[in-house]
Amino acid sequence: MPPSTMQDSYTSTPRKMKIDRSNYFGRVASRWHTTASARLLACSAVLLILTLFVMYRISSISGGIVEGGIIGRSVAAFKPTHEWELKVRQSCVPKRLEEDVMVVLVTGAAGFVGTHVSLSLKKRGDGVVGLDNFNDYYETSLKRARLDLLEKHGVFVVEGDINDETLLMSLFEVGQITHVMHLAAQAGVRYAVQNPRSYVHSNIAGLVNLFEVCKAANPQPAIVWASSSSVYGLNNKVPFSESDRTDQPASLYAATKKAGEGIAHTYNHIYGLSITGLRFFTVYGPWGRPDMAYFSFTQDILRGKAINIYTGSGGKDLARDFTYIDDIVKGCMRALDTAEKSTGSGGKKTGPAQLRVFNLGNTSPVTVPILVDILEKHLKQKAIRNIVKMPRNGDVPFTHANTSSAQSQLNYHPTTNLDTGLRKFVKWYLSYYGVGTDHRLWLGDREQIV
Ligand SMILES: NC(=O)c1ccc[n+]([C@@H]2O[C@H](COP(=O)([O-])OP(=O)(O)OC[C@H]3O[C@@H](n4cnc5c(N)ncnc54)[C@H](O)[C@@H]3O)[C@@H](O)[C@H]2O)c1
Ligand SMILES: *[C@@H]1O[C@H](CO)[C@@H](O)[C@H](O)[C@H]1NC(C)=O
Repeated sequence: MPPSTMQDSYTSTPRKMKIDRSNYFGRVASRWHTTASARLLACSAVLLILTLFVMYRISSISGGIVEGGIIGRSVAAFKPTHEWELKVRQSCVPKRLEEDVMVVLVTGAAGFVGTHVSLSLKKRGDGVVGLDNFNDYYETSLKRARLDLLEKHGVFVVEGDINDETLLMSLFEVGQITHVMHLAAQAGVRYAVQNPRSYVHSNIAGLVNLFEVCKAANPQPAIVWASSSSVYGLNNKVPFSESDRTDQPASLYAATKKAGEGIAHTYNHIYGLSITGLRFFTVYGPWGRPDMAYFSFTQDILRGKAINIYTGSGGKDLARDFTYIDDIVKGCMRALDTAEKSTGSGGKKTGPAQLRVFNLGNTSPVTVPILVDILEKHLKQKAIRNIVKMPRNGDVPFTHANTSSAQSQLNYHPTTNLDTGLRKFVKWYLSYYGVGTDHRLWLGDREQIV
Protein backbone atom coordinates (compact mmCIF):
# COMPACT_ATOMS: atom_id res chain seq x y z
CA MET A 1 0.00 0.00 0.00
CA PRO A 2 1.11 3.57 -0.61
CA PRO A 3 2.10 5.59 2.44
CA SER A 4 -1.30 7.19 2.94
CA THR A 5 -0.14 9.33 5.85
CA MET A 6 1.11 11.97 3.50
CA GLN A 7 -2.07 12.12 1.49
CA ASP A 8 -3.76 14.77 3.59
CA SER A 9 -0.80 17.08 4.03
CA TYR A 10 -1.63 19.76 1.56
CA THR A 11 -5.26 20.67 2.10
CA SER A 12 -5.72 23.86 4.05
CA THR A 13 -4.94 26.87 1.90
CA PRO A 14 -7.12 29.79 3.02
CA ARG A 15 -10.20 30.12 0.82
CA LYS A 16 -10.39 33.05 -1.55
CA MET A 17 -12.96 35.70 -0.64
CA LYS A 18 -15.65 36.23 -3.24
CA ILE A 19 -16.82 39.65 -2.02
CA ASP A 20 -15.02 42.74 -3.18
CA ARG A 21 -14.47 44.15 0.30
CA SER A 22 -13.76 47.79 -0.51
CA ASN A 23 -17.01 48.17 -2.46
CA TYR A 24 -19.01 46.30 0.09
CA PHE A 25 -17.83 48.37 3.01
CA GLY A 26 -18.05 51.49 0.90
CA ARG A 27 -21.75 50.85 0.45
CA VAL A 28 -22.25 50.16 4.15
CA ALA A 29 -20.42 53.36 5.01
CA SER A 30 -22.48 55.50 2.61
CA ARG A 31 -25.61 54.98 4.73
CA TRP A 32 -23.92 56.91 7.53
CA HIS A 33 -22.88 59.92 5.50
CA THR A 34 -24.96 62.46 7.44
CA THR A 35 -22.75 63.21 10.40
CA ALA A 36 -19.03 63.26 10.97
CA SER A 37 -19.31 61.00 13.99
CA ALA A 38 -21.21 58.49 11.93
CA ARG A 39 -18.45 58.56 9.36
CA LEU A 40 -15.90 58.07 12.08
CA LEU A 41 -17.86 55.10 13.42
CA ALA A 42 -18.00 53.57 9.96
CA CYS A 43 -14.27 53.97 9.48
CA SER A 44 -13.50 52.36 12.81
CA ALA A 45 -15.85 49.49 11.99
CA VAL A 46 -14.09 48.96 8.68
CA LEU A 47 -10.73 49.10 10.39
CA LEU A 48 -11.85 46.68 13.07
CA ILE A 49 -13.18 44.18 10.56
CA LEU A 50 -10.06 44.46 8.42
CA THR A 51 -7.85 44.00 11.48
CA LEU A 52 -9.79 40.93 12.56
CA PHE A 53 -9.56 39.53 9.06
CA VAL A 54 -5.79 40.06 8.88
CA MET A 55 -5.35 38.54 12.35
CA TYR A 56 -7.40 35.53 11.28
CA ARG A 57 -5.23 35.07 8.20
CA ILE A 58 -2.00 35.37 10.15
CA SER A 59 -3.14 32.97 12.86
CA SER A 60 -4.30 30.38 10.34
CA ILE A 61 -1.00 30.54 8.48
CA SER A 62 1.25 30.40 11.52
CA GLY A 63 -1.04 27.78 13.04
CA GLY A 64 -0.23 25.65 10.03
CA ILE A 65 3.49 26.07 10.53
CA VAL A 66 3.38 25.36 14.24
CA GLU A 67 1.10 22.38 13.94
CA GLY A 68 2.59 20.72 10.98
CA GLY A 69 6.22 21.71 10.66
CA ILE A 70 7.22 22.93 7.23
CA ILE A 71 4.90 20.51 5.45
CA GLY A 72 1.69 21.26 7.31
CA ARG A 73 1.21 17.80 8.80
CA SER A 74 0.38 17.27 12.44
CA VAL A 75 3.41 15.78 14.14
CA ALA A 76 3.09 14.99 17.82
CA ALA A 77 5.69 17.09 19.64
CA PHE A 78 8.79 15.07 20.34
CA LYS A 79 9.97 14.89 23.93
CA PRO A 80 13.26 13.14 24.63
CA THR A 81 13.16 10.74 27.56
CA HIS A 82 16.12 9.94 29.78
CA GLU A 83 16.32 6.46 28.27
CA TRP A 84 16.30 7.84 24.73
CA GLU A 85 19.13 10.25 25.50
CA LEU A 86 21.15 7.43 27.00
CA LYS A 87 20.75 5.28 23.87
CA VAL A 88 21.69 8.16 21.58
CA ARG A 89 24.74 9.01 23.67
CA GLN A 90 25.89 5.40 23.79
CA SER A 91 25.51 4.97 20.04
CA CYS A 92 27.47 8.18 19.42
CA VAL A 93 30.53 7.25 21.49
CA PRO A 94 33.50 6.71 19.14
CA LYS A 95 35.68 3.63 19.65
CA ARG A 96 38.91 5.08 18.32
CA LEU A 97 41.12 7.91 19.48
CA GLU A 98 42.44 9.43 16.26
CA GLU A 99 41.97 13.13 15.79
CA ASP A 100 39.80 12.66 12.70
CA VAL A 101 37.19 10.64 14.57
CA MET A 102 33.60 11.54 13.71
CA VAL A 103 30.14 11.33 15.16
CA VAL A 104 27.79 10.82 12.27
CA LEU A 105 24.02 11.17 12.07
CA VAL A 106 22.91 8.81 9.30
CA THR A 107 19.41 9.62 8.01
CA GLY A 108 17.62 6.79 6.20
CA ALA A 109 19.71 4.40 8.31
CA ALA A 110 17.24 1.51 7.96
CA GLY A 111 17.38 1.92 4.18
CA PHE A 112 19.61 -0.01 1.81
CA VAL A 113 22.58 2.37 1.55
CA GLY A 114 22.06 3.77 5.06
CA THR A 115 22.45 0.36 6.70
CA HIS A 116 25.71 -0.37 4.90
CA VAL A 117 27.21 3.06 5.57
CA SER A 118 26.22 2.94 9.27
CA LEU A 119 27.82 -0.47 9.72
CA SER A 120 30.97 0.63 7.96
CA LEU A 121 31.33 3.73 10.15
CA LYS A 122 30.68 1.73 13.31
CA LYS A 123 33.20 -0.94 12.37
CA ARG A 124 35.85 1.71 11.88
CA GLY A 125 35.16 3.10 15.36
CA ASP A 126 33.25 6.27 14.59
CA GLY A 127 30.18 7.30 16.57
CA VAL A 128 26.95 6.67 14.66
CA VAL A 129 23.29 7.32 15.31
CA GLY A 130 20.60 6.56 12.75
CA LEU A 131 17.25 8.14 11.94
CA ASP A 132 14.51 6.56 9.83
CA ASN A 133 10.72 6.85 9.61
CA PHE A 134 10.26 3.23 8.49
CA ASN A 135 7.68 4.21 5.87
CA ASP A 136 6.00 1.45 3.87
CA TYR A 137 7.14 2.39 0.36
CA TYR A 138 8.48 -1.16 0.32
CA GLU A 139 8.22 -4.02 2.83
CA THR A 140 8.89 -2.64 6.31
CA SER A 141 9.92 -6.14 7.46
CA LEU A 142 13.11 -5.70 5.44
CA LYS A 143 13.79 -2.34 7.12
CA ARG A 144 13.19 -3.99 10.52
CA ALA A 145 15.58 -6.82 9.63
CA ARG A 146 18.24 -4.26 8.71
CA LEU A 147 17.51 -2.56 12.04
CA ASP A 148 18.18 -5.83 13.89
CA LEU A 149 21.53 -6.04 12.15
CA LEU A 150 22.38 -2.45 13.09
CA GLU A 151 21.37 -2.92 16.72
CA LYS A 152 23.49 -6.05 16.93
CA HIS A 153 26.45 -3.86 15.98
CA GLY A 154 25.61 -1.15 18.48
CA VAL A 155 23.97 1.36 16.15
CA PHE A 156 20.84 2.95 17.62
CA VAL A 157 18.26 4.04 15.07
CA VAL A 158 15.75 6.67 16.13
CA GLU A 159 12.31 6.20 14.61
CA GLY A 160 11.30 9.61 13.35
CA ASP A 161 10.94 11.92 10.40
CA ILE A 162 13.54 14.35 9.05
CA ASN A 163 10.75 16.95 9.07
CA ASP A 164 10.64 16.83 12.88
CA GLU A 165 12.68 19.87 13.90
CA THR A 166 12.51 19.27 17.65
CA LEU A 167 13.71 15.70 17.23
CA LEU A 168 16.64 16.73 15.04
CA MET A 169 17.64 19.48 17.47
CA SER A 170 17.61 17.00 20.36
CA LEU A 171 19.77 14.60 18.36
CA PHE A 172 22.38 17.29 17.70
CA GLU A 173 22.37 18.37 21.32
CA VAL A 174 22.60 14.91 22.85
CA GLY A 175 24.80 13.25 20.22
CA GLN A 176 27.42 15.97 19.63
CA ILE A 177 27.12 15.25 15.91
CA THR A 178 30.09 16.31 13.75
CA HIS A 179 28.88 14.95 10.37
CA VAL A 180 25.56 14.20 8.72
CA MET A 181 25.25 11.43 6.12
CA HIS A 182 21.88 12.27 4.66
CA LEU A 183 20.36 9.30 2.84
CA ALA A 184 16.69 9.54 3.82
CA ALA A 185 14.58 10.20 0.76
CA GLN A 186 11.61 9.05 -1.22
CA ALA A 187 13.35 6.96 -3.86
CA GLY A 188 12.02 5.45 -7.08
CA VAL A 189 11.10 7.17 -10.30
CA ARG A 190 7.80 5.53 -11.29
CA TYR A 191 6.13 5.77 -7.89
CA ALA A 192 6.16 9.57 -8.25
CA VAL A 193 3.20 9.25 -10.62
CA GLN A 194 1.16 7.63 -7.83
CA ASN A 195 2.35 9.61 -4.81
CA PRO A 196 4.05 12.86 -5.88
CA ARG A 197 3.62 14.49 -2.48
CA SER A 198 5.82 11.96 -0.72
CA TYR A 199 8.73 13.24 -2.85
CA VAL A 200 8.07 16.84 -1.82
CA HIS A 201 7.71 15.76 1.81
CA SER A 202 11.03 13.94 2.10
CA ASN A 203 13.25 15.25 -0.69
CA ILE A 204 12.36 18.94 -0.49
CA ALA A 205 10.65 19.85 2.83
CA GLY A 206 12.70 17.28 4.76
CA LEU A 207 15.95 18.44 3.20
CA VAL A 208 15.24 22.07 4.03
CA ASN A 209 14.33 21.17 7.61
CA LEU A 210 17.56 19.20 8.00
CA PHE A 211 19.65 22.07 6.61
CA GLU A 212 17.85 24.53 8.90
CA VAL A 213 18.76 22.48 11.96
CA CYS A 214 22.35 21.98 10.72
CA LYS A 215 22.68 25.71 10.10
CA ALA A 216 21.58 26.50 13.66
CA ALA A 217 23.66 23.75 15.30
CA ASN A 218 26.76 24.79 17.20
CA PRO A 219 29.18 23.73 15.85
CA GLN A 220 27.62 23.20 12.44
CA PRO A 221 28.17 19.69 11.07
CA ALA A 222 29.61 18.89 7.63
CA ILE A 223 27.00 17.27 5.39
CA VAL A 224 27.28 14.56 2.76
CA TRP A 225 24.01 13.70 1.00
CA ALA A 226 22.68 11.48 -1.75
CA SER A 227 21.66 13.13 -4.97
CA SER A 228 21.17 10.85 -7.97
CA SER A 229 22.33 10.06 -11.49
CA SER A 230 18.71 10.73 -12.46
CA VAL A 231 19.49 14.48 -12.44
CA TYR A 232 21.11 13.93 -15.87
CA GLY A 233 17.63 13.11 -17.16
CA LEU A 234 17.48 13.24 -20.91
CA ASN A 235 21.14 14.23 -21.22
CA ASN A 236 22.61 12.15 -24.06
CA LYS A 237 26.24 13.14 -23.84
CA VAL A 238 28.15 10.10 -22.53
CA PRO A 239 29.67 9.49 -20.11
CA PHE A 240 27.78 11.81 -17.71
CA SER A 241 30.12 14.39 -16.18
CA GLU A 242 29.32 16.63 -13.24
CA SER A 243 29.45 19.72 -15.46
CA ASP A 244 26.87 18.34 -17.94
CA ARG A 245 23.42 19.92 -18.07
CA THR A 246 20.93 18.68 -15.48
CA ASP A 247 17.94 20.78 -16.43
CA GLN A 248 15.89 18.10 -18.17
CA PRO A 249 14.64 15.80 -15.38
CA ALA A 250 12.51 12.91 -16.67
CA SER A 251 10.69 12.28 -13.38
CA LEU A 252 9.52 14.17 -10.32
CA TYR A 253 12.08 12.15 -8.34
CA ALA A 254 14.86 13.55 -10.52
CA ALA A 255 13.41 17.04 -10.25
CA THR A 256 13.41 16.89 -6.43
CA LYS A 257 17.04 15.71 -6.39
CA LYS A 258 17.99 18.50 -8.76
CA ALA A 259 16.12 20.96 -6.52
CA GLY A 260 18.07 19.53 -3.58
CA GLU A 261 21.34 20.44 -5.28
CA GLY A 262 20.09 24.00 -5.65
CA ILE A 263 18.99 24.13 -2.02
CA ALA A 264 22.41 22.79 -0.96
CA HIS A 265 24.06 25.62 -2.88
CA THR A 266 21.93 28.17 -1.03
CA TYR A 267 22.71 26.84 2.45
CA ASN A 268 26.38 26.68 1.58
CA HIS A 269 26.36 30.20 0.19
CA ILE A 270 24.37 31.93 2.93
CA TYR A 271 25.19 29.94 6.06
CA GLY A 272 28.60 28.38 5.37
CA LEU A 273 27.48 24.75 5.55
CA SER A 274 30.03 22.34 4.11
CA ILE A 275 28.00 20.18 1.72
CA THR A 276 28.92 17.30 -0.59
CA GLY A 277 26.32 15.84 -2.98
CA LEU A 278 26.85 12.33 -4.31
CA ARG A 279 25.14 11.32 -7.53
CA PHE A 280 24.71 7.55 -7.08
CA PHE A 281 24.32 5.39 -10.19
CA THR A 282 21.90 2.41 -9.76
CA VAL A 283 23.19 0.90 -6.53
CA TYR A 284 22.61 -2.84 -5.98
CA GLY A 285 23.68 -5.59 -3.59
CA PRO A 286 22.78 -7.53 -0.42
CA TRP A 287 20.01 -5.93 1.69
CA GLY A 288 18.98 -4.00 -1.44
CA ARG A 289 15.70 -2.41 -2.43
CA PRO A 290 12.84 -4.70 -3.53
CA ASP A 291 11.46 -2.08 -5.94
CA MET A 292 14.53 -2.29 -8.15
CA ALA A 293 14.65 -4.53 -11.23
CA TYR A 294 17.56 -6.82 -10.25
CA PHE A 295 15.70 -7.57 -7.00
CA SER A 296 12.20 -8.13 -8.39
CA PHE A 297 13.62 -10.08 -11.37
CA THR A 298 15.27 -12.44 -8.88
CA GLN A 299 11.97 -12.93 -7.06
CA ASP A 300 10.08 -13.61 -10.31
CA ILE A 301 12.68 -15.89 -11.88
CA LEU A 302 12.66 -18.07 -8.75
CA ARG A 303 8.87 -18.26 -8.86
CA GLY A 304 8.71 -18.99 -12.57
CA LYS A 305 6.87 -15.75 -13.20
CA ALA A 306 7.47 -13.82 -16.44
CA ILE A 307 9.49 -10.61 -16.20
CA ASN A 308 9.02 -7.46 -18.27
CA ILE A 309 12.13 -6.28 -20.03
CA TYR A 310 11.71 -2.78 -21.35
CA THR A 311 13.21 -1.49 -24.55
CA GLY A 312 13.81 2.12 -25.45
CA SER A 313 13.03 3.95 -28.67
CA GLY A 314 13.89 1.97 -31.81
CA GLY A 315 13.84 -1.26 -29.74
CA LYS A 316 17.19 -0.43 -28.14
CA ASP A 317 18.06 -2.18 -24.89
CA LEU A 318 18.08 -0.08 -21.75
CA ALA A 319 21.43 0.10 -19.99
CA ARG A 320 22.51 1.08 -16.49
CA ASP A 321 25.82 1.82 -14.85
CA PHE A 322 25.09 -0.68 -12.04
CA THR A 323 27.25 0.10 -9.01
CA TYR A 324 27.94 -2.37 -6.22
CA ILE A 325 27.03 -1.28 -2.69
CA ASP A 326 30.54 -1.73 -1.24
CA ASP A 327 31.95 0.66 -3.84
CA ILE A 328 29.25 3.20 -2.99
CA VAL A 329 30.01 2.83 0.73
CA LYS A 330 33.70 3.49 0.08
CA GLY A 331 32.75 6.61 -1.86
CA CYS A 332 30.54 7.80 1.01
CA MET A 333 33.29 7.18 3.58
CA ARG A 334 35.85 9.04 1.47
CA ALA A 335 33.43 11.93 1.02
CA LEU A 336 32.98 12.14 4.80
CA ASP A 337 36.74 11.87 5.38
CA THR A 338 37.56 14.68 2.97
CA ALA A 339 34.69 16.96 4.03
CA GLU A 340 35.94 20.25 5.42
CA LYS A 341 34.37 21.89 8.44
CA SER A 342 31.37 24.15 8.01
CA THR A 343 32.24 27.80 8.56
CA GLY A 344 29.04 29.20 10.04
CA SER A 345 28.38 30.06 13.64
CA GLY A 346 25.21 31.25 15.32
CA GLY A 347 23.42 30.87 11.98
CA LYS A 348 25.91 33.19 10.17
CA LYS A 349 28.65 32.40 7.69
CA THR A 350 32.13 33.47 8.73
CA GLY A 351 33.90 32.47 5.51
CA PRO A 352 33.48 30.43 2.32
CA ALA A 353 32.69 26.74 2.87
CA GLN A 354 33.24 23.63 0.80
CA LEU A 355 30.59 22.71 -1.79
CA ARG A 356 31.10 19.60 -3.92
CA VAL A 357 29.21 17.24 -6.17
CA PHE A 358 30.51 13.84 -7.37
CA ASN A 359 29.31 11.05 -9.59
CA LEU A 360 29.60 7.67 -7.89
CA GLY A 361 29.14 5.03 -10.58
CA ASN A 362 30.87 1.95 -11.89
CA THR A 363 31.79 3.46 -15.29
CA SER A 364 30.71 0.39 -17.28
CA PRO A 365 27.02 0.27 -18.24
CA VAL A 366 25.36 -3.11 -18.77
CA THR A 367 22.14 -3.70 -20.70
CA VAL A 368 19.11 -5.14 -18.94
CA PRO A 369 19.07 -8.40 -21.00
CA ILE A 370 22.67 -9.04 -19.93
CA LEU A 371 21.72 -8.33 -16.31
CA VAL A 372 19.05 -11.05 -16.71
CA ASP A 373 21.61 -13.45 -18.26
CA ILE A 374 23.83 -13.04 -15.21
CA LEU A 375 20.93 -13.54 -12.80
CA GLU A 376 19.90 -16.74 -14.65
CA LYS A 377 23.44 -18.05 -14.26
CA HIS A 378 23.61 -17.41 -10.51
CA LEU A 379 20.05 -18.57 -9.84
CA LYS A 380 20.54 -21.65 -12.08
CA GLN A 381 17.12 -20.98 -13.53
CA LYS A 382 15.85 -19.53 -16.82
CA ALA A 383 13.79 -16.34 -16.90
CA ILE A 384 10.56 -16.05 -18.87
CA ARG A 385 11.11 -12.80 -20.76
CA ASN A 386 8.43 -10.39 -21.97
CA ILE A 387 9.96 -7.73 -24.16
CA VAL A 388 7.90 -4.56 -23.74
CA LYS A 389 8.22 -1.02 -24.99
CA MET A 390 9.17 1.30 -22.13
CA PRO A 391 6.27 3.41 -20.90
CA ARG A 392 7.13 7.08 -20.57
CA ASN A 393 6.90 7.35 -16.82
CA GLY A 394 10.29 8.43 -15.62
CA ASP A 395 12.94 5.94 -16.64
CA VAL A 396 15.76 7.12 -18.87
CA PRO A 397 17.27 4.93 -21.63
CA PHE A 398 20.80 4.66 -20.21
CA THR A 399 23.22 5.95 -17.59
CA HIS A 400 27.00 6.04 -17.64
CA ALA A 401 29.16 7.79 -15.06
CA ASN A 402 32.32 9.75 -15.62
CA THR A 403 33.95 9.37 -12.20
CA SER A 404 37.24 11.12 -12.85
CA SER A 405 36.43 13.81 -10.26
CA ALA A 406 35.70 11.24 -7.55
CA GLN A 407 38.82 9.33 -8.59
CA SER A 408 41.11 12.29 -8.18
CA GLN A 409 39.48 13.99 -5.19
CA LEU A 410 38.06 11.04 -3.24
CA ASN A 411 40.41 8.31 -4.39
CA TYR A 412 37.28 6.46 -5.49
CA HIS A 413 37.97 3.31 -7.51
CA PRO A 414 35.07 0.88 -7.94
CA THR A 415 36.30 -2.71 -7.93
CA THR A 416 33.22 -4.95 -8.22
CA ASN A 417 31.79 -5.85 -11.61
CA LEU A 418 28.14 -6.80 -12.15
CA ASP A 419 28.84 -10.54 -12.30
CA THR A 420 30.62 -10.61 -8.93
CA GLY A 421 28.16 -8.19 -7.34
CA LEU A 422 25.08 -10.13 -8.44
CA ARG A 423 26.64 -13.38 -7.22
CA LYS A 424 26.90 -11.79 -3.76
CA PHE A 425 23.38 -10.42 -4.03
CA VAL A 426 21.90 -13.81 -4.97
CA LYS A 427 23.76 -15.48 -2.12
CA TRP A 428 22.29 -12.98 0.34
CA TYR A 429 18.85 -13.22 -1.25
CA LEU A 430 18.70 -16.98 -0.86
CA SER A 431 19.89 -16.83 2.73
CA TYR A 432 17.40 -14.11 3.61
CA TYR A 433 14.29 -15.35 1.83
CA GLY A 434 15.11 -18.97 1.01
CA VAL A 435 14.15 -20.50 -2.34
CA GLY A 436 10.57 -20.65 -3.49
CA THR A 437 8.92 -18.88 -0.56
CA ASP A 438 6.13 -16.69 -1.77
CA HIS A 439 7.05 -13.45 -0.06
CA ARG A 440 6.62 -11.11 -2.98
CA LEU A 441 4.63 -8.06 -2.00
CA TRP A 442 2.54 -6.16 -4.45
CA LEU A 443 4.73 -3.47 -5.94
CA GLY A 444 2.53 -2.37 -8.83
CA ASP A 445 3.99 0.66 -10.51
CA ARG A 446 6.96 0.83 -8.20
CA GLU A 447 9.20 -1.62 -10.02
CA GLN A 448 11.97 0.06 -11.88
CA ILE A 449 15.50 -0.03 -13.03
CA VAL A 450 16.91 3.13 -11.55
N1 LIG B 1 19.76 2.83 -4.56
C1 LIG B 1 20.01 3.55 -5.63
O1 LIG B 1 20.19 3.01 -6.72
C2 LIG B 1 20.09 5.05 -5.58
C3 LIG B 1 20.45 5.74 -6.73
C4 LIG B 1 20.53 7.13 -6.68
C5 LIG B 1 20.27 7.79 -5.50
N2 LIG B 1 19.89 7.10 -4.38
C6 LIG B 1 19.61 7.86 -3.14
O2 LIG B 1 20.35 7.27 -2.09
C7 LIG B 1 19.64 7.41 -0.88
C8 LIG B 1 19.48 6.05 -0.22
O3 LIG B 1 18.74 5.21 -1.11
P1 LIG B 1 18.37 3.72 -0.79
O4 LIG B 1 18.48 2.95 -2.04
O5 LIG B 1 19.09 3.27 0.41
O6 LIG B 1 16.80 3.89 -0.49
P2 LIG B 1 15.93 3.33 0.73
O7 LIG B 1 14.53 3.65 0.39
O8 LIG B 1 16.27 1.90 0.99
O9 LIG B 1 16.41 4.19 1.97
C9 LIG B 1 15.87 5.43 2.33
C10 LIG B 1 15.41 5.34 3.78
O10 LIG B 1 14.98 6.63 4.18
C11 LIG B 1 13.82 6.49 4.97
N3 LIG B 1 13.05 7.72 4.83
C12 LIG B 1 12.38 8.16 3.74
N4 LIG B 1 11.79 9.34 3.98
C13 LIG B 1 12.09 9.67 5.26
C14 LIG B 1 11.78 10.78 6.09
N5 LIG B 1 11.00 11.76 5.64
N6 LIG B 1 12.26 10.80 7.35
C15 LIG B 1 13.02 9.78 7.82
N7 LIG B 1 13.35 8.71 7.06
C16 LIG B 1 12.89 8.66 5.80
C17 LIG B 1 13.11 5.28 4.43
O11 LIG B 1 12.29 4.65 5.40
C18 LIG B 1 14.26 4.38 3.99
O12 LIG B 1 14.58 3.43 4.99
C19 LIG B 1 18.33 8.10 -1.23
O13 LIG B 1 18.49 9.48 -1.03
C20 LIG B 1 18.18 7.81 -2.70
O14 LIG B 1 17.38 8.79 -3.34
C21 LIG B 1 19.80 5.74 -4.41
C1 LIG C 1 35.26 13.42 -17.38
O1 LIG C 1 35.16 14.55 -16.52
C2 LIG C 1 36.32 15.37 -16.48
C3 LIG C 1 36.08 16.48 -15.49
O2 LIG C 1 35.85 15.94 -14.20
C4 LIG C 1 36.64 15.92 -17.86
O3 LIG C 1 37.83 16.66 -17.82
C5 LIG C 1 36.79 14.77 -18.85
O4 LIG C 1 36.93 15.29 -20.15
C6 LIG C 1 35.54 13.89 -18.81
N1 LIG C 1 35.73 12.75 -19.67
C7 LIG C 1 34.90 12.41 -20.63
C8 LIG C 1 35.27 11.20 -21.44
O5 LIG C 1 33.87 13.02 -20.89
